[in-house]
Amino acid sequence: MKNTLSEELLSSLTADTPSISPKFFYDDIGSRLFDVITLLNEYYPTRTEKWIMDAYQGDIAAAVGHCDVLVDLGAGNCAKASRLFETLNPRQYRALDISKEYLEVAVADLQKQFPQIEMSAHAVDLSLPMAFPDIQELDKVFFYPGSSIGNFDPEQADEFFVNLANECHGKGGLLIGVDLVKDVETLNLAYNDSLGVTAAFNLNTLLNVNRLIGSNFQPQDWEHYAFFNTSQSRIEMHLRALKDVQITLPGHKGHDHLISFGAGNLIHTENSYKYTQDHFVEKLRCAGFKDIHCWTDPNKHFLVCFAKT
Ligand code: AVJ
Repeated sequence: MKNTLSEELLSSLTADTPSISPKFFYDDIGSRLFDVITLLNEYYPTRTEKWIMDAYQGDIAAAVGHCDVLVDLGAGNCAKASRLFETLNPRQYRALDISKEYLEVAVADLQKQFPQIEMSAHAVDLSLPMAFPDIQELDKVFFYPGSSIGNFDPEQADEFFVNLANECHGKGGLLIGVDLVKDVETLNLAYNDSLGVTAAFNLNTLLNVNRLIGSNFQPQDWEHYAFFNTSQSRIEMHLRALKDVQITLPGHKGHDHLISFGAGNLIHTENSYKYTQDHFVEKLRCAGFKDIHCWTDPNKHFLVCFAKT
């Protein structure tokens, strides 16, 4: 594990465009910082999605119909799924997330509140193909809230949808939340909050990487940099070196790797793609979904879709 992570980070940090994958945000501290981000006034996605799900609870339940298994793709603290239990009344709850420790605690807590639902927690990397052979015959709802889909490149998102459309086997569908394109100021503020929580979330990835592979990044040598890239329709988050720095990545048998960054150099840490409703629905259709229902808020800041094959 340690070696593959070291190799992955060595190659991404020495690429022409140095980067650290957004999966490295979510250690113990990062998962908690993200929870705080969702409470910030500037960060509208979480509360807007909740508003849509509450306002259209009955319509969503009617569109989804019967649900045996709720498959939560990116469960986090499981708060969103627990609210869906009342709407969908599933017999089984399957929680997937990249951060295993955090997930297991959340699922254990939830199990106490809902003893009648059969629950399980699975640590997975959602960028890899998924298969659910044991629930093929059941009515299942794949739940992918929070605009997590925004972290995928558009082509990766298409592959992810094709994978899920196939895994539906004509029974059930995908309930997904996605952030919509809107005025640039609102978008930029959501990733540049006045308390600096998003900055701390971004910088924390350096501490997580240090812990995982024994590197020596100093967060105080870097600053948070986030902006909306209009031509690519995505928020980009980067870390920018405040001065010239040299980083040591421990290698095999004492063969350390030295990486130099000049003042102003960037490490790309996240893309968060924003879609228009029409484009997003078109992507779902191209992946093989036919019956697509959409709900949005009055400002059209966020979109929730249920798509069946
Ligand atoms: C969890 C990927 C949906 O892109 O808005 C929040 C992560 N990054 N603030 C997003 C995030 C900075 C978030 N997602």
